[in-house]
Amino acid sequence: MSAASADHGGDAQQAWIAGAGAPLRGSLRVPGDKSVSHRAVMLGALAQGVTRVTGFLEGEDTRATARVFERLGVRIETPSASERIVHGVGLHGLRGIDAPLDCGNAGTGMRLLAGALAGQAFDSVLIGDASLSKRPMRRVTEPLAAMGARIDTQQGGLPPLRIQGGRALLGIEYTLPVASAQVKSALLLAGLYARGETVVHEPHPTRDYTERMLAAFGWPIEFSPGYARLSGGHTLRATDVAVPADFSSAAFFLVAASVVPGSELLLEAVGMNPRRTGLLAALRLMGADIVEENPRAEGGEPVADLRVRYAPLRGIEVPEALVPDMIDEFPALFAAAAVAQGRSVIRGAAELRVKESDRIATMAAGLRALGARIEETPDGAIIDGGALHGGSVDSHGDHRIAMSLSIAAQLASGEVRIGDVANVATSFPGFEALAAKAGMRVSPAA
Ligand code: S3P
Repeated sequence: MSAASADHGGDAQQAWIAGAGAPLRGSLRVPGDKSVSHRAVMLGALAQGVTRVTGFLEGEDTRATARVFERLGVRIETPSASERIVHGVGLHGLRGIDAPLDCGNAGTGMRLLAGALAGQAFDSVLIGDASLSKRPMRRVTEPLAAMGARIDTQQGGLPPLRIQGGRALLGIEYTLPVASAQVKSALLLAGLYARGETVVHEPHPTRDYTERMLAAFGWPIEFSPGYARLSGGHTLRATDVAVPADFSSAAFFLVAASVVPGSELLLEAVGMNPRRTGLLAALRLMGADIVEENPRAEGGEPVADLRVRYAPLRGIEVPEALVPDMIDEFPALFAAAAVAQGRSVIRGAAELRVKESDRIATMAAGLRALGARIEETPDGAIIDGGALHGGSVDSHGDHRIAMSLSIAAQLASGEVRIGDVANVATSFPGFEALAAKAGMRVSPAA
């Protein structure tokens, strides 16, 4: 078996042409939340009964997770786009197969699956695309091994993951060395299969979707920010899941409408889980004009409509306490900082180096190619805002880098060619069309 599956998104040559567009106007709803969509399929599959998921992200990452469970014997219907009916097989109803399970580009898929599959009676092998095959997995395999799991990796703790079935798992109490919702969630999912209690402490609270959703599926769990405790041996009971619009996808528009003069854009029903909205706080410190309208709860999650108007931004020192709450939004923040007035300083964000790409290096290279002044540091960057020019940049197959560079391009004096953008479909299929509809200039290169 090869170490890496075919590159999802396929065509590394796919490119966009972007440049100064019109002010962003109107209203739009971005696709469903990636983190919630992954978890809804996973818990639905392991539950007893039928789970209906609405607002499901039709991205390649979340579809890969659904496909893995289909291959393990779970029937999943797609009655309409963004809807899934998951026919749960119960905690012990999955059937192993003698073939690798492909997680595509998705770190969330692979790490959470490692936890769930460590407790099965059968062996499994998890593989991913070229990017995922370079991402560190020891952060999950080590604590899972402490629970009694047996997971072999490639040298350096890299995928594929070979997970041995039939192991008796034992709950542990574990303090995460780095704040990671993926690691926490992997341990909690393994904890469903473990004897005794699994307790996770975090150095900084991370997104708590796994905890909330386990509770919604009827599993006894105790949790508060930075802490979760559950014990094995209960039952997940199917429940419907309404997925909110993904704050991380809304983030690109929050930045674009903030920096393009004359913009006023309404983003509808955006998920506002406080562990996700650090960028909002950072942009407001920079002077952004973003108003939360009609705050409400949908499917147990806080959501709001976000009205964003153009406002001149100034550089800031990003408070380190915000870093985990905006970990996926740094590429967008880099773009904002590159066109803001004055200096921005980012620290305490070394995790960016092990995302779908090394996001400090790829954003620095991309923005520098457009004339920005950026100094990389080991755990962040120093960015002096200024004017941008046109040029040719590379997203290195990283969806968030591609979209963030297209935002920066809206303020460039010349045309920007952004290469290797196919993986945008992992989290935000149709981004270019929605962005163009709002007023941005971004379209597939001929
Ligand atoms: C996610 C957790 C974060 C985030 C990722 C999604 C999740 O990763 O960056 O996009 O759904 O649990 P880490 O756990 O590595 O911080």
